[in-house]
Amino acid sequence: MHDKFVFLPMKDETNIETQPQAIKIRNLLINPPLLLAPMAGLTHSALRRIIIEFGGVGLLSTEMLSAKRLPTENPQISPYLFRTERESPLSYQLLTSTEKEIGRAIDALHALKADAVDLNMGCPSPSVIKLGAGVMLAERPDEVRRIVAEARKRTTLPLSAKIRLGSEADSTKLRTFCFMLEGEGIDLLTVHARFKHEPFARNPRWAYIAEIKECIKIPVIANGGVFSVEDAEKCLRVSGADGLMLGRGAVIRPWLFAEIARTVFGSDIPDRVVSLPDVYAAFFEALNADYRPVYRLGRLKEFTHYFAKNYKFGHSLASAIQSSSSMDEARARAGAFFANNG
Ligand SMILES: Cc1cc2nc3c(=O)[nH]c(=O)nc-3n(C[C@H](O)[C@H](O)[C@H](O)COP(=O)(O)O)c2cc1C
Repeated sequence: MHDKFVFLPMKDETNIETQPQAIKIRNLLINPPLLLAPMAGLTHSALRRIIIEFGGVGLLSTEMLSAKRLPTENPQISPYLFRTERESPLSYQLLTSTEKEIGRAIDALHALKADAVDLNMGCPSPSVIKLGAGVMLAERPDEVRRIVAEARKRTTLPLSAKIRLGSEADSTKLRTFCFMLEGEGIDLLTVHARFKHEPFARNPRWAYIAEIKECIKIPVIANGGVFSVEDAEKCLRVSGADGLMLGRGAVIRPWLFAEIARTVFGSDIPDRVVSLPDVYAAFFEALNADYRPVYRLGRLKEFTHYFAKNYKFGHSLASAIQSSSSMDEARARAGAFFANNG
């Protein structure tokens, strides 16, 4: 299946001496070049605030936002749009299948004081595929050209795209697509190193990113499967990318940005002792303080699914929260778990 992909000679891993530096795109400095991934149900204000407290993140993100619905959302109460001033710089990710939705969506993002705009070209969920959006855009390059051109015309904000490797290994198609994105004015490209149908359980294909890096000049960010400092170092070496985007690893360990920033990029961030119950409580309190009741419990369940992985018996925390029917019940059950798993 993957025989059409021509591998570049692998870089001698021991020969790479310099780490990538801060990235500047238009007026935006991404320093260190560590980005938070857009994740539906996870990448919202409560998580972003926990991450900022630890430090080390260069660019935050929203989850994907429907370009069609965005102009009618109320930013004060929308769990997708609510943000505090400290959550900066913040990139907003748009999900669309047509250039017709771009103008109004970008106007809305200007009103929200977005620091950057990202276009989702990688989501493989069935509902998104049905719309012809997300990962399906790779099969519709003419529409993508129109979408990017329209977005570029409408904003001077940094404009990025997030892609997967395509539906199958086809180096020429992938290169042509990336080259087109750059030509239409995309400032930064994030590559989730998996093919369209590949599940998260599959090892990411970081080496494929080196192919893309070779054919475009804009910064390329590697994404997929970075859960530790060691993963970060290896991913940068193998991909040759200009920076990293962290998803699930940053939900499990919101201090992972700080660890990578300190160790890999030499950022001056103090090494703090992490209290898991305190991190969980801070997330819980942020939900209670700033989200309408109807939006709280679902987000707590999503977060706990990942955060519980910090514990050997975390599945019992995850299932206790999963079956909770109120925030109060979840709080009591989490408290009991922490008391027994200190
Ligand atoms: C629960 C969940 C929701 C996601 N939602 C989005 C999304 O809204 N937009 C997007 O581009 N990618 C989305 N992704 C993909 C992530 O941005 C990222 O590419 C993927 O998780 C691989 O990175 P990781 O191994 O660091 O988690 C989602 C992933 C997860 C696990």
